[in-house]
Amino acid sequence: MNAFALLKTDHEAFKAMLTELESTTERAVKTRTRIFEHLKRQLAAHETIEEEILYPAIKAKAKTKDKKLVLEAYAEHHVADLLVAELATLPASDEMWGAKATVLRESLEHHIEEEEGNLFKTAKSLLDKDELDAIGRQMKLRKQELLGKSATA
Ligand SMILES: [Fe+2]
Ligand SMILES: [Fe+2]
Repeated sequence: MNAFALLKTDHEAFKAMLTELESTTERAVKTRTRIFEHLKRQLAAHETIEEEILYPAIKAKAKTKDKKLVLEAYAEHHVADLLVAELATLPASDEMWGAKATVLRESLEHHIEEEEGNLFKTAKSLLDKDELDAIGRQMKLRKQELLGKSATA
């Protein structure tokens, strides 16, 4: 299992969900809530597998500059989590909802770009193929454990 392919597939799904979410209005409360709940669950699982498996593996081998890159990724997850928590408590009919969803999309797009760029490059330089394959397998299993059957959907 390729670690990067697994994560990139998730990233593409998040981008699509975020774009779809952004196109909803205050009047489309049901649609908005449905997409948001799905995103929330998938994002939490994605962040968990990265934070439990990929990030520590990179951090363990990284020197100062690369270590900072991993720490920034944790911080970016934290920002996304804060926005998701705010969206979860704010009524979907609130005029601020859409604005916050846009900020979430922008910040996640930035995070994904950093991850697929600098972070994956760093991971490839610090970890060999066997290590990356093992990380990919572990992340896939952990994701299934967290999401059940929907992990493969
Ligand atoms: Fe990611
Ligand atoms: Fe991430």
